[in-house]
Amino acid sequence: MTLVEMGIPTVRSRPPSLDGRPDTPLLVDRFGRTARDLRVSITEKCTLRCTYCMPEEGLPPIPQHELLTVDEIVRLVGLAVEELGVREVRFTGGEPLVRRDLERIIEGCHTRVPDTPLAMTTNGVGLVHRVHGLARAGLSRVNVSLDTVDRADFARLTRRDRLNSVLAGIKAARAAGLAPVKVNAVLMRETLSGAADLLRWCLDEGCELRFIEEMPLDADHEWARANMVTAAQLLDVLGARFTLTEVGRPDPAAPAERWLVDGGPATVGVIATVTRKFCDTCDRTRLTADGMLRSCLFSDEEFDVRAALRAGATDDEIATIWRGAMWNKWAGHGIDADNFVPPERTMGAIGG
Ligand code: 5AD
Ligand code: SF4
Repeated sequence: MTLVEMGIPTVRSRPPSLDGRPDTPLLVDRFGRTARDLRVSITEKCTLRCTYCMPEEGLPPIPQHELLTVDEIVRLVGLAVEELGVREVRFTGGEPLVRRDLERIIEGCHTRVPDTPLAMTTNGVGLVHRVHGLARAGLSRVNVSLDTVDRADFARLTRRDRLNSVLAGIKAARAAGLAPVKVNAVLMRETLSGAADLLRWCLDEGCELRFIEEMPLDADHEWARANMVTAAQLLDVLGARFTLTEVGRPDPAAPAERWLVDGGPATVGVIATVTRKFCDTCDRTRLTADGMLRSCLFSDEEFDVRAALRAGATDDEIATIWRGAMWNKWAGHGIDADNFVPPERTMGAIGG
């Protein structure tokens, strides 16, 4: 049995091939893209259990000694910005707030790369208690995941009755100066009829709402192309209550396409990962909580920088592994292909 059949991603500890790569420090690939946006997952744990992401019992725990430490994260973020041309860093999970040392991670990164925006994707649970400290530590932006403002629907979808904590977290983030808060909602059949209420709430709170098509990254493997809610279906539902005017993508590498709501200036975004995929402009590079580099959410090929770090690798050696990992990035996901196989790691284990 191969490792892949056992459900373990293929980890390459030897440097990936640099064949044909131009002589540049940047994270370029064979398809003309350059990665500028680093996503750092810092834990697989979460306070919610969204059905499109986590299994009921949570993900298998990563042993403590396999998680990257504060110093290791700061070193990798520093190197990514200073040597590899990364321009923005986003911390994700799981749920980043689960880590008690999140403030130290943010503070360490902010001290090391003070001009680089540091963002976080969070589910907002308990954010109200931490957001001021995080802003003080140097956090620049938060995206909060929120799929519905209906308490019963929220509890069903996340398997936890924590809607009020999330709403309080969003308000607190704004009060802490982290505006504009972006809200991410995954499109699900169960919450589609509440999409207009969610948009109304976000407009009233001054949040920028973006809907995301559900991707086959759920631990329960229930995703099916035929069942997923598409961007087109969402626009029909929202169009019944609001006048939407398409404005497209302000930045070609931004995944969200935008619509003005009732003439603007507020907008609603749609990230149509599946039906209008945007892999050809992808500028992401990813680091998992256990220190593996991934060039794409959907590629199970990982490169073990934790092992390299702990074996005493120099910054140059790590930079070379990272450049190679990205040089070998795929053209894109094949979700629409008949032979598509979802990655072994699910969203909670990679980081959104
Ligand atoms: N499809 C799309 N988005 C997902 N997320 C988690 N699982 C999925 C999925 N299967 C999103 C969360 C959050 C971010 C971390 O990833 O809602 O916004
Ligand atoms: Fe937790 Fe986010 Fe996954 Fe929901 S989507 S279970 S909040 S990591």
